[in-house]
Amino acid sequence: MVSYSELPTSYQIAHITVRPNIVLAPMVGVTDSVFRRLLLSLGGLGMVTTEMTNAASVSPKAMKRHRLLEFLPEERPLAMQLSGNDPELIAEAARQVEALGADIIDINCGCPSPKVTGGGHGSALLRDLPKMGRLLTAVRSAVSIPVTLKFRAGWDDESLNYEDTARLAEDCGVSALALHPRTKAQGYAGSADWRRVAAAKRVVTIPVIGSGDVKSAPDALLQLAESGADGVMIGRGAMANPWIFRQVEALRQGQPMFEPGPADKYDFLMRYMDMLLEVMAEQQAIGKVKQLIGQFSVGFRGAAQLRRDVQHARTIQEQRETIERYFEPFILGRVAAELVSQSEVMEGALVES
Ligand SMILES: Cc1cc2nc3c(=O)[nH]c(=O)nc-3n(C[C@H](O)[C@H](O)[C@H](O)COP(=O)(O)O)c2cc1C
Repeated sequence: MVSYSELPTSYQIAHITVRPNIVLAPMVGVTDSVFRRLLLSLGGLGMVTTEMTNAASVSPKAMKRHRLLEFLPEERPLAMQLSGNDPELIAEAARQVEALGADIIDINCGCPSPKVTGGGHGSALLRDLPKMGRLLTAVRSAVSIPVTLKFRAGWDDESLNYEDTARLAEDCGVSALALHPRTKAQGYAGSADWRRVAAAKRVVTIPVIGSGDVKSAPDALLQLAESGADGVMIGRGAMANPWIFRQVEALRQGQPMFEPGPADKYDFLMRYMDMLLEVMAEQQAIGKVKQLIGQFSVGFRGAAQLRRDVQHARTIQEQRETIERYFEPFILGRVAAELVSQSEVMEGALVES
């Protein structure tokens, strides 16, 4: 039996304290400034990271309109994630990102997408640790803010090297690690083996954060307890349930967990749309709503129709009306808004990074 109150509540990334130690995973196409701010406003979220940005796209000229790196002051501490495979180029990008105001530079050595690994970025670096070492060292010496690493367990089951990668990163001066304990070959199949997080934690002295398959507040605290990790990172689980961070806080304190009702979910989507429209063109905002609705609505009664209608909508107004039509009977109490089991929450939608 886990005693929640004895679990760690924070970790250090060099001089930066991350509290609570439950953080949002970076997700391309999802965790932009709007999504990050909206989730931070719900409470319980210790840190956010930008979407992965290719170092080659970071130049003084491009910076002014680099949407992936936009942020507002309320997002601190903020990690900005870069990918790359040329030590000098990524070091230069890191300098730019530091000047932009990042608190932390995070290096991606985990992305399994062929578009990314094809260029030698992301998890391709798991196959060339000497290169990864040069990259990390170059970034470390280019900036004065802390550098962190997010990585996978290895390229495939035959080449699991997460312990070596963890040691290497520590030797290169990296201040904390986030491990998604699947292999590149696994993509998102199977399950995240948190015993690998525990093993990585045993071979380094810097903080190790685990990332993968955390779908509920009890899951988060169970993984924290069993793996001995310093923190937990939540991605898809936070798209499905943006209140998950707040629920973890309540659980730790022995308080009743806030359970969002239909009105909360409806308000969340409306706020999301309003905030999107403040910073981007309508077509782009429509795409973001489509991307979120898949995970967000899994487990809702009759959600397939909602998802279809949101996907087919051509304007934000149409998306709004679709969402209103769906939620109205639940909010008015004419239909009981039952959720199906939590295990189904992750099964409905997306996923590729
Ligand atoms: C749509 C999507 C986009 C992602 N983009 C990134 C990314 O930009 N950088 C990164 O390090 N990981 C990325 N990931 C991986 C997540 O950060 C996380 O490690 C992984 O999804 C496992 O956690 P989860 O089961 O909580 O989602 C992405 C995952 C998804 C589903």
